[in-house]
Amino acid sequence: MKGVVLAGGLGTRLDPLTRITNKHLLPIYDKPMIYYPIKTLVNAGITDILIVTGGQNAGDFLRLLGNGKEFGLKHINYTYQEGEGGIAEALDLAEHFVEGEKLCVILGDNIIEGNIIAAANAFREQPRGARVLLKAVPDAERFGVAELSDDRILGIEEKPKNPKSNYAVTGIYMYDPTVFEKIHTLEPSARGELEITDVNNLFIAEGTLTFSILEGWWTDAGTVDSLRRATNLVAKTGANRTDLQSAG
Ligand code: G1P
Repeated sequence: MKGVVLAGGLGTRLDPLTRITNKHLLPIYDKPMIYYPIKTLVNAGITDILIVTGGQNAGDFLRLLGNGKEFGLKHINYTYQEGEGGIAEALDLAEHFVEGEKLCVILGDNIIEGNIIAAANAFREQPRGARVLLKAVPDAERFGVAELSDDRILGIEEKPKNPKSNYAVTGIYMYDPTVFEKIHTLEPSARGELEITDVNNLFIAEGTLTFSILEGWWTDAGTVDSLRRATNLVAKTGANRTDLQSAG
């Protein structure tokens, strides 16, 4: 399974912190933000990784990460997203890299206490479709929210005013290579972006979306409050721990 870290975007919700650098290079406790999602992939045995970035500071990723020696990698792949077309548009840039394999996509501002080892192994066994990782949160209206019935996801709503559950769809997604033909059918949303939630709903429509519940804390870091929260959580417990049990 290949790995894709999405680290583009303008990070406008963090202005002025992001005026002269990319959001994913900002510090979370003692490391740049992007270290955490890379480690999440590597811990799950995903070592063939593409970083999608953009903006004016793309070269800084190369200077910071090089070939990924710090993560035990021999090589990191990079690509560049022009403009601000949303998560699904950024992911579309990975099509040539994935070469028909399964892929695990992680948003560059998603940080976890534990690991995704069991979920990744479950997806390696899954014949087709997609798998998302869910986490119960107190502020579900900030995220994509899953409507659940027993062990099935009935639908996902992007930032609903009245969430149908408290299960956020985290920014960690596993896909089979049909994800690209699905992205090509999307129309931009009201915010002018190709939405990853629309992609996931297409997998629900064909009955192939499964899920795992993430163990340990999960946070994004794209707002001033969540950036501080992420730093506090990492300082308190550490992140990317492999000693935590993770649910398949
Ligand atoms: C994005 C997705 C959302 C998901 C979240 C996880 O939101 O659109 O469905 O729950 O990431 O971090 P955004 O950060 O673009 O607002």
